[in-house]
Amino acid sequence: MSIHKKNDIYNILLGQLLSQDEGIDAEILSNSALNAIKFASLNRNFPIISKILSKASHDFQRNNKNLNQIIFGSQFKNPLGLAAGFDKNGVGAGLWDYFGFGFAELGTITWHAQKGNPKPRLFRIAKEKAALNRMGFNNEGAEKFLKTIEKQKISTPGNRPCVLGINLGKSKITPLDEAYKDYALSLELLAPLSDYAVINVSSPNTPGLRSLQETKQIKKLIKTLKDLPNCPPLLIKIAPDLSNEAIDEIAVVAKEEGIDGIIAINTSLNRFNLKHLKIKTGNTLEQENGGLSGLPLQRRGLEVIDRLRRSTNLDLPLIGVGGINSAKSAWERIAAGASLIQIYTGWIFEGPTLVPEILDGLILQMEKHGFQNIKEAVGSKEPWK
Ligand SMILES: Cc1cc2nc3c(=O)[nH]c(=O)nc-3n(C[C@H](O)[C@H](O)[C@H](O)COP(=O)(O)O)c2cc1C
Repeated sequence: MSIHKKNDIYNILLGQLLSQDEGIDAEILSNSALNAIKFASLNRNFPIISKILSKASHDFQRNNKNLNQIIFGSQFKNPLGLAAGFDKNGVGAGLWDYFGFGFAELGTITWHAQKGNPKPRLFRIAKEKAALNRMGFNNEGAEKFLKTIEKQKISTPGNRPCVLGINLGKSKITPLDEAYKDYALSLELLAPLSDYAVINVSSPNTPGLRSLQETKQIKKLIKTLKDLPNCPPLLIKIAPDLSNEAIDEIAVVAKEEGIDGIIAINTSLNRFNLKHLKIKTGNTLEQENGGLSGLPLQRRGLEVIDRLRRSTNLDLPLIGVGGINSAKSAWERIAAGASLIQIYTGWIFEGPTLVPEILDGLILQMEKHGFQNIKEAVGSKEPWK
């Protein structure tokens, strides 16, 4: 199945808009896409929608059994997922499968509904294939999230074509020392619909959140959630800005406390070599608050997976995310030790054809290396051929 990228409708319609930092606000663009996705997910059985979706699955899905893996009890049809933050309210939960994803992480969801930070709070940096955001967990809250998922009438965990994870954060109004109760309330409510859950302690836009990565705090949080009677497989998502020693420590603690996997990395407060680059506000990246995503994170994302794989001794599943924008960068993350990978900024810039491009690339690499299943590539350190 070949995809003609240049003629792809997404590139024709959106290529121009996404290739410049000025013009339509990045958040407005993203919300328009989500509204269309929401409508389609609620109306999957309408003949015209179902026709469009069947065309989408023909273009984007790759059903190759060599990409299948069972990880923390879930069957992943392929290792590529949509990263947290795009579908914060779960409006596309019934649709991500049609885009070819093996899994999608919904959220971040907080117990209380919240508006997030003042706008503008999402900026494209097209030349660098990067974005800066300081959204601040804008979402409709856990109770509304539950209703949104129920309305879409999707299958139950274990019976879905696309695994669904929920990513949980702390509500801004909840004091830090009560954060564990806030996460627990959300998880208790949403556990029955989740294939896995993520403790997000790494977003840079909620004051104090990242201090929950400290050993004492993280132990309490994990224990509280693990003790819930219906706790699904529990993962933790970490920041790229931790020192290597702190990463090692988190890996040890996570393993001791029975965490099922680690997701690395979230957006970064580091500006890398882009400190002096000006964004739409007229300020430089150094002067603006928010987390950087996309291509500048690629190297650190790879380093952290490599580091974690060594510290966890190959027996804790890792999800690699940050700057993946091609089959090569996807392969490198898997070869470094990620069982699964996720994309966000790359998917926005490259468009939905990035999914089949990555999956086709992985299949070809497996053939070149003589691997029968993607599992054999995980941590293999085999270079891209
Ligand atoms: C606009 C935006 C919003 C995000 N929101 C969240 C979020 O709510 N929760 C979360 O865990 N990560 C969030 N992320 C981080 C992504 O999930 C991902 O970890 C990060 O962007 C690196 O991947 P990428 O380079 O492929 O974008 C967000 C990223 C972007 C660009």
